[in-house]
Amino acid sequence: MLETKELTIRFGGHVAVDRVSCAFAPGTLTAIVGPNGAGKTTYFNLISGQLRASAGTVWLNGTDITGETVPARTHRGLGRAFQLTQLFPNLSVLENVRLAVQSKRHEGLSLFAVWLDRKETLERARALVAQVRLGDRVDAAASSLPHGDQRKLEVAMLMALEPSVYMFDEPTAGMSVDDVPVILDLIRQLKGARDKTILLVEHKMDVVRELADRIIVLHNGQLVADGEPAAVIASPIVQQAYLGLVPEISPSGQDGPAPFPTFPLAGEGAGRGDAVRGA
Ligand SMILES: Nc1ncnc2c1ncn2[C@@H]1O[C@H](COP(=O)(O)OP(=O)(O)OP(=O)(O)O)[C@@H](O)[C@H]1O
Ligand SMILES: [Mg+2]
Repeated sequence: MLETKELTIRFGGHVAVDRVSCAFAPGTLTAIVGPNGAGKTTYFNLISGQLRASAGTVWLNGTDITGETVPARTHRGLGRAFQLTQLFPNLSVLENVRLAVQSKRHEGLSLFAVWLDRKETLERARALVAQVRLGDRVDAAASSLPHGDQRKLEVAMLMALEPSVYMFDEPTAGMSVDDVPVILDLIRQLKGARDKTILLVEHKMDVVRELADRIIVLHNGQLVADGEPAAVIASPIVQQAYLGLVPEISPSGQDGPAPFPTFPLAGEGAGRGDAVRGA
């Protein structure tokens, strides 16, 4: 069980995440939605340890991990997609995944063990590469991949770490029509395993509707709605924030237009005072 209690971060005078208390159970996929700048990514950064909380705590399986480093949290099973900057750009797709598999298997173990286990490690890496549909790009340098393939590589490396908590921050942003289903399918597979805690920040409401067991809404850093998808989508805050606007094609597409309509929230739609927790 992952839980945040009154989790807060201030940047100067701005409270980007404001006393967010929320628990996430294994076997559930929670979508985190909210307008641009609502604090979704910052909330992820606080959970994974990239940012330090100004106040409040993060708990994983009964342990307070608020003061722990990113690697310590990763070791405990918190999995955040690798950023492209963490990849080895000049190494191949397979080598990158192999290193991730190796880091999972040999945390603190000897090189001899690595050598003994080499074949198995390589096989596991190949299986993961195939699973994210990069089987025909195994030897390509990570830096040479198009955007969509790089994101698939990130997911393969994340899966190599076998986390118990998966955090996906707009995993399909900027992806081509062909690539989006691959990523969604992987998330569906992870969900099917039933023992993973999955957090998904996503703007595409049809994706959210299909995948989420639960939706929480952040607005101005605060948790303003939390519940079963149909109820949250029907709630005034989400209607106002997302559905009051005409759906449009994602402007973030780099490989062409996104295949799903998105409902970006312009600031005008929802005033600060309108947010009612549990709406
Ligand atoms: N390191 C930082 N220093 C100062 N302000 C920050 C920092 N990180 C985030 N913020 C601010 O915190 C607020 C929340 O940003 P965040 O990126 O978490 O929003 P978001 O919900 O992920 O938005 P989007 O949907 O656009 O990705 C924004 O006002 C942002 O400018
Ligand atoms: Mg964000």
